[in-house]
Amino acid sequence: MKTILDRPTTGLYPVPVTLVTCKDSEGRENIITLAWNGVVASKPPTVSISVRPARYSHAMLTETKVFGMNIPNAALLTQVDYIGNHSGREVDKFQATGLTRIAAGIVDVSLIEECPVNLECRIVETFEQGSHTVFLGEVVAQHVSSEYLLAGQNIDYKKADPLLYCSGGGYFSLGEYRGDYGLSLKKKKD
Ligand SMILES: Cc1cc2nc3c(=O)[nH]c(=O)nc-3n(C[C@H](O)[C@H](O)[C@H](O)COP(=O)(O)O)c2cc1C
Repeated sequence: MKTILDRPTTGLYPVPVTLVTCKDSEGRENIITLAWNGVVASKPPTVSISVRPARYSHAMLTETKVFGMNIPNAALLTQVDYIGNHSGREVDKFQATGLTRIAAGIVDVSLIEECPVNLECRIVETFEQGSHTVFLGEVVAQHVSSEYLLAGQNIDYKKADPLLYCSGGGYFSLGEYRGDYGLSLKKKKD
């Protein structure tokens, strides 16, 4: 038997946690923790982020139309939570967390060295959806720390150890590897 909840939520779990870096036109930089992230298209590679208009980062994203999507590992949990509970209006979050800025190659925004994967994104679409503004970002460059790279430029996800978020339930890590894409199509051996 199922219980239909009194008030439906987004209900999708888990979602990846990201540290999004952004900048205003005067060069002030900021980092925001986001969980409402998504994959939108493969070609051109496009991701989405949903940001409340009240966030300090919101105006920066709207103004310069670029962001860095930095994917932290579990070792960065304390910094991730700190960044998601402090505003750049009051504190320089790079300074407060000790995270290291690295320059992006294509878009004018800093990336975070300590994150195994960094995406450089150019905002191609913005729209309002209820409480949040949705920014669609075309991924124009992807950086992967070489220690997390496998043959064929695949990412060693187990080693990259991403942080997952379950609304109302907190932070989690990846579980066990369950099999290859297309496993159902493989012929069984006689
Ligand atoms: C795990 C986690 C996930 C979050 N996800 C989002 C999100 O998807 N969208 C959003 O607008 N705020 C989100 N927040 C809240 C912002 O990170 C937080 O309000 C932050 O202080 C805003 O920073 P800023 O004012 O410097 O932009 C999240 C916070 C945490 C801790």
